[in-house]
Amino acid sequence: MSGHKVVLGGVAVAALLAAGTALAVDPPKMGRPAPADLVKLMDISIPPDGTGLPEGQATAKQGQTVFMERCAACHGERGEGKTNDRLAGGKGTLTEEVTVKTVGSYWPWATTLFDYIRRAMPYNTPLSLKDEEVYGTVAYVLFLNGIVGENDPINAQTLPKVQMPNRDGFINAWKEPAVATR
Ligand code: HEC
Repeated sequence: MSGHKVVLGGVAVAALLAAGTALAVDPPKMGRPAPADLVKLMDISIPPDGTGLPEGQATAKQGQTVFMERCAACHGERGEGKTNDRLAGGKGTLTEEVTVKTVGSYWPWATTLFDYIRRAMPYNTPLSLKDEEVYGTVAYVLFLNGIVGENDPINAQTLPKVQMPNRDGFINAWKEPAVATR
């Protein structure tokens, strides 16, 4: 009986080996190369240093109009929160018993606000804003938090220079140790 099992096992291994060899020589014809325009559409991540921020710009004043039409219903006209998250205020509350986490009190980078709004907001119609409209709403949210002026142009050059109040409030888990351990 046990001999019978061994024979079966041997056959299975032989079959696997044969399949492996066939794969190496002739891969299955599946999928297709990703078209460049599709890659461009999905390649929208903006890291903290702002690499890849698009052309265009807007001020908070310009962004206010977009915000009223596209954001205020959920976040309130001055980002005070409505059915959804509060976006402004709360500065200095992170060490209090009741913390108020907003873009102004919590977020360490302004650049990633562009990334977030462009890819995720408005919540019910994401990816529907033009780059200028994203810059405008970014500027308006930063303005509501007293971080930029009403008429400051927000663009690929100025946004990475914006200093967020909680910039130093995070510990970078990926930082190299100061002294090599090996
Ligand atoms: C239909 C309601 C709705 C609309 C409209 C909307 N949002 Fe939001 N927003 C949400 C919800 C819900 C969340 C929380 C999402 C989550 O945590 O996954 C959110 C989260 C956010 C956050 C992150 C807050 C934080 O600190 O975590 C920002 C910033 C933001 N929205 C900006 C905007 C902007 C700018 C617009 C307009 C372009 C907008 N939202 C339109 C519902 C909305």
